[in-house]
Amino acid sequence: MSKVLIPWADPFLGKEELSHIHESFKNQRFTSGQKVKKFEKLMAKYLNVDYAIAVSNGTVALDIALKTLKIGIGDEVIVPSMTYISSASSVSYQNAIPVFVDIDKKTFNIDVKSAEKAISKKTKAIIFIDYGGNASNIDEIINLGKKYNIPIVQDAAQSLGAKYRGKKIGANGDISTMSFHMAKIITTIEGGMIFTNNKKYYDEILIRRNIGEPKNKKYKHTHLGTNARMTELNAGIGISQIQKLEKFVKKRNAIAKRYDYLFSKSKLNIQVLKRNSSKFRNAYFLYPILIKNRDKIAKNLLKRHGIDTRIAYPMPIYKQPMYSNNLKSYKNKNCPNAIFVTKNILNLPIYPNMKIKDVDKVFNAIKEEYITNN
Ligand SMILES: Cc1ncc(COP(=O)(O)O)c(C=O)c1O
Repeated sequence: MSKVLIPWADPFLGKEELSHIHESFKNQRFTSGQKVKKFEKLMAKYLNVDYAIAVSNGTVALDIALKTLKIGIGDEVIVPSMTYISSASSVSYQNAIPVFVDIDKKTFNIDVKSAEKAISKKTKAIIFIDYGGNASNIDEIINLGKKYNIPIVQDAAQSLGAKYRGKKIGANGDISTMSFHMAKIITTIEGGMIFTNNKKYYDEILIRRNIGEPKNKKYKHTHLGTNARMTELNAGIGISQIQKLEKFVKKRNAIAKRYDYLFSKSKLNIQVLKRNSSKFRNAYFLYPILIKNRDKIAKNLLKRHGIDTRIAYPMPIYKQPMYSNNLKSYKNKNCPNAIFVTKNILNLPIYPNMKIKDVDKVFNAIKEEYITNN
């Protein structure tokens, strides 16, 4: 394994986070309590949403969201074909059927027309993500849900810090879910959150987060639930991180701007995302490029230059063995944009503490590898 000189992500944790941990130890408060409540309140305020429920990760957040929407056996849920596995596996967990639709070739987000075409009588929800922190066409998706009376789930694992038409995004679905995994824009190490404006959903999510046990009804279980509670230690870290979010996003945008400049000046046939107007702020959780001979280049970037990258994601989800090995309909599926993008996409290092000279190093290494390998 080559030594990593420039990582693809690097969480920024400091003394503020540590002081929260110390406080929990001093007060001997570790399981879900005041810090979890405070973190939920801060997130709800930031996203301007009525209810925020902290959970242990973004995958379980999706599971609870779909259970709350009563997704069950044989129901269909529309999912973009290029996303993290949890967006789809959470559907399969309900014994429901993920119906994969193509993505937009320019934004890598769900193609809303393809989503509309895939709607059937069995469609019970539509899941969308904001790939790499770049907002989907949220108005069109919400309108689609309204038109067909289908609930929308925003898997906002990558959305925090982004803006759509001047508004912060992440709580735009009937139910939305988030991840605070180590590499995300803000982290609680592991963690997640569920957002909704619907009081009925909120009450049920609270129960399902706590092994199906309503408040004040110890050992009485009204719903199928799981233990998805967040600890005070994770929430304390989250409280410090949310206060740094704007700074993080600004730094990520400065790095992206430098990459944009370097790629636009070069004559290389490498595609980067189009820059949005300031009303559509990209949070730049990822900085994706489309590059020919991607696999070889990614390997050499690490081996020869110590630069780590990510291929998010290497194939459309329906090609993942857990789907393609089991169902003929997935084996024969064809989403051309997702195929093209997953074949060429490469996510470059980007993190708040990244130095501009390291951005230049990454660019120069890519240039060298591109010329050698194309
Ligand atoms: C789009 C998307 N959905 C869901 C998840 C799952 O979140 P977690 O890793 O917190 O379970 C992730 C995290 O990587 C993600 O990127």
